[in-house]
Amino acid sequence: MTLEGKAVLVTGAARRVGRAIALALAERGARLAIHYNRSRKEAAELARDIHRSFGVDAMTVKAELSDIRAVERMAKTVASGLGGLHALVNSASVYESNVFGKTTPDDWNRHLDANLRAPFFLCQAAAPHMRRSGGGVIVNIADWAGLRPYAGYIPYCVSKAGLLCLNTALAKALAPEIRVNAVMPGPVLLPPGTTKRQAQAVREATLVKRLGSPEDVARAVVYFFENDFVTGAALPVDGGRLIA
Ligand SMILES: NC(=O)c1ccc[n+]([C@@H]2O[C@H](COP(=O)([O-])OP(=O)(O)OC[C@H]3O[C@@H](n4cnc5c(N)ncnc54)[C@H](OP(=O)(O)O)[C@@H]3O)[C@@H](O)[C@H]2O)c1
Repeated sequence: MTLEGKAVLVTGAARRVGRAIALALAERGARLAIHYNRSRKEAAELARDIHRSFGVDAMTVKAELSDIRAVERMAKTVASGLGGLHALVNSASVYESNVFGKTTPDDWNRHLDANLRAPFFLCQAAAPHMRRSGGGVIVNIADWAGLRPYAGYIPYCVSKAGLLCLNTALAKALAPEIRVNAVMPGPVLLPPGTTKRQAQAVREATLVKRLGSPEDVARAVVYFFENDFVTGAALPVDGGRLIA
């Protein structure tokens, strides 16, 4: 799929990795829907930056992803706002450490709702619009830790493992019109509050001994748009962290 003129919804797009993905798609001419929940100001600024830098329009759309009605409404709002919907990037995510033994049902639900249930229902709501637009592309932003979980983040890792399963299942369910692929980033942007020592340990745990960048992830997303023979794939963009 060429990105020029295509209508694309990116979730969690106001900040960090989602923002880099939105910019990379807009640079190639995509018309964007920038999803946000709390980052209203950042989303509006990004829409303005995109218009100024690339001359393409971008709309913003708010949704709390644990609210399935809001998720389904978002697909409709975007399809009518952009005059169709060709593609979706599921990037929004909850990432919190949860000590085993002290993890609550709310901790579990917060991760599973935003990282797995919402992508499923958003894909289900978006797919008919994509079919009407003549076909589509879905890219799920997973995590290498969905394949090799760490013990202090069980709900997060389980949600990303589920997202990888969903990725394969949807590639089958939506073929041949809609292609579905996943990116499995390694460490590219550490959470606020990460200490220097923790950051060093994260770098050391990769094969390339450094962090990646949000743009590394964005380039993989662009690849999945542009290569029409790829579906059901999950690409590590992790500096070798998965196999280290
Ligand atoms: N950063 C990394 O190094 C890294 C590594 C591996 C995988 N990943 C994956 O890459 C993706 C992007 O990473 P990131 O670090 O940029 O993510 P992030 O900053 O942790 O979160 C991205 C956005 O998700 C949105 N979000 C969270 N919970 C939500 C909810 N309940 N409803 C609606 N929106 C919600 C937030 O939007 P608002 O701010 O608007 O509320 C947030 O800005 C994620 O899927 C992540 O798992 C990242």
